[in-house]
Amino acid sequence: MSESPILTVRHGRVGVISLNRPAQLNALNDALMDALGKALLDLDGDSDIGAIVITGSDKAFAAGADIAVMADWTYMDVFQSGFITRNWETIRQVRKPVIAAVAGYAMGGGCELALACDIVIAAESAQFALPEIKLAMLPGAGGTQRLPRAIGKAKAMDMCLSARMLNAEEADRYGLVSRVVPDAELQTTTMKLAIQISGYSLPALMAIKESVNRAHEASLTEGILFERRALHARFASADAHEGMHAFLDKRKPVFQHR
Ligand code: CAA
Repeated sequence: MSESPILTVRHGRVGVISLNRPAQLNALNDALMDALGKALLDLDGDSDIGAIVITGSDKAFAAGADIAVMADWTYMDVFQSGFITRNWETIRQVRKPVIAAVAGYAMGGGCELALACDIVIAAESAQFALPEIKLAMLPGAGGTQRLPRAIGKAKAMDMCLSARMLNAEEADRYGLVSRVVPDAELQTTTMKLAIQISGYSLPALMAIKESVNRAHEASLTEGILFERRALHARFASADAHEGMHAFLDKRKPVFQHR
């Protein structure tokens, strides 16, 4: 039996998904993306989970879509089967916070997967590129859309048109990643952060994620209105009253995730 392309473990309220095709630098094929989508939906639907981590190996988060399987596909193959749409976009349905822990290569679809996560923690060894142009291809898993939103048009064009690779420090400076940490601390820092986040009120986390994501989709006026309604909805939450009263009582809040 072949080994599973992902491994999933639970640590308290955190679900950790490890991409597991080391011999191919975690190249993203259908088996992996199907399994990743299913694991994400399982963890998202599990009321005992408050945050999700996606990680790779020390050498590669993921080196992109699997070129070996794509090389002979035709337009009809990818159009009719809904390549990318059919399984890569599952991550967009996830309402809980998703953290990417990236060491080594995050290239092409691997970089795009990191961009689709909510927070990206990069090890100092992390390298980010959208090198599809070298294959006469195109970053087609959201890269041409999310990268300019993350780092601006000038830098995104530079990366997409020249295949420029960013090291972790550059990626941090440009706003592609949230934090950079030494490689030896990647997993512990990420877990500490995921545990911290998963301890907060889950419906509040979901409302915040939805509101921040709205900033990409809506005008400022619509986004502010969305945010205001999300704030008003907090007053229907037992956790919000608990959080504010706990502050006033100078005690730790006890959240029911309701
Ligand atoms: N697809 C399939 N196999 C891949 C792969 C990929 N994207 N990336 C690496 N591999 C395989 C290699 O073929 C190699 O396999 P063999 O040992 O069987 O030869 C193995 O992984 C190790 O790779 P390298 O020997 O190349 O390792 P390296 O350390 O010398 O180089 C690298 C690492 C710079 C990441 C290099 O592997 C590389 O450039 N990979 C391709 C990156 C790329 O072009 N990604 C974009 C893909 S297209 C895409 O993602 C489209 C989209 O938007 C959805």
